[in-house]
Amino acid sequence: MGTEPRQAGLAVVRASQLLFVLAALMAATACDRPVSRTDQALTATGRVTAMSGGAGGASNACFACHGLDGEGDGVSVPRLAGLDAGYLQKQMEDYASGIRPDPVMTAVAKALDDNARRSVVAYYAGLAPRRSNASAIPAPAIWREGDPARGLTACASCHGAGGEGVGRGQPVLAGQPAAYTREQMDRWRAGKRRNDPRAAMTDIARKLTSEEIGALAAWLEQRPASPAPASDAASASAAAAAAGRSAASREGRRLDR
Ligand code: HEC
Ligand code: HEC
Repeated sequence: MGTEPRQAGLAVVRASQLLFVLAALMAATACDRPVSRTDQALTATGRVTAMSGGAGGASNACFACHGLDGEGDGVSVPRLAGLDAGYLQKQMEDYASGIRPDPVMTAVAKALDDNARRSVVAYYAGLAPRRSNASAIPAPAIWREGDPARGLTACASCHGAGGEGVGRGQPVLAGQPAAYTREQMDRWRAGKRRNDPRAAMTDIARKLTSEEIGALAAWLEQRPASPAPASDAASASAAAAAAGRSAASREGRRLDR
């Protein structure tokens, strides 16, 4: 029972994968960093840091908090799997420099040198996020339309219609734990997290009520975790390498496994 629809589904998946592969091949030929042994080595080094904590020692081992598969703890520790490498790299730098202070992550990021940060984020960006069921809850109006009366821009315009993120600067929010999202909004409101370009998030967080933030966070938690633009290890590490440069890494999109 059920094998036929499944096979039909697979055929559809294969056809779309083929298109994806073709697009990826075209992107790869235009890319200045094709898949290479260096990329694989970067990701492998990153995995070691994720499992060991690198120079920071075992208490900084990422997997202990972010989970073996980078899925987070579902409460206060965010998912890293499949997030854009450029975004993750920026966060590590911001934790280390103090413009995104955090009691745990500041120390973790400071203990790693630039190469270690680059490789560990390449590793996490290359992990496939776990998919969950699509949410039945409709997106809150503020997400879709903002609120012109309060000068609020729609969240969707920067984070994508389903919270899937846009480019490397405007992160995936889909599938992040509600408590984590609420905490980030509180920190922006209070001026503790100050790493958003042009203070967009600070302004937005201050205009929202706690009820609105709660509803947005609850909706986001139920969104299926979708792969970030740089969803495979090789393009992810290329993206990490590009993180310091101005060029966006999203052209490096490749089929995930
Ligand atoms: C002791 C637990 C712990 C360890 C170990 C840990 N993290 Fe975290 N991490 C957290 C918590 C908690 C947060 C949320 C902090 C905040 O609110 O800013 C976080 C946030 C992050 C974020 C921000 C994600 C986002 O969506 O903005 C990144 C990136 C990250 N961690 C990477 C790492 C890496 C890489 C390692 C290992 C080198 C690591 N973490 C080790 C607990 C931990
Ligand atoms: C003008 C563009 C813009 C709009 C509109 C916007 N955001 Fe953001 N948001 C950003 C950027 C850029 C970042 C990443 C900042 C950084 O580098 O840490 C961000 C980060 C976040 C984060 C932190 C993610 C993490 O993993 O730590 C949350 C949560 C968030 N936004 C929620 C929202 C919500 C909810 C709305 C709508 C009420 C919204 N944003 C509207 C640009 C925007």
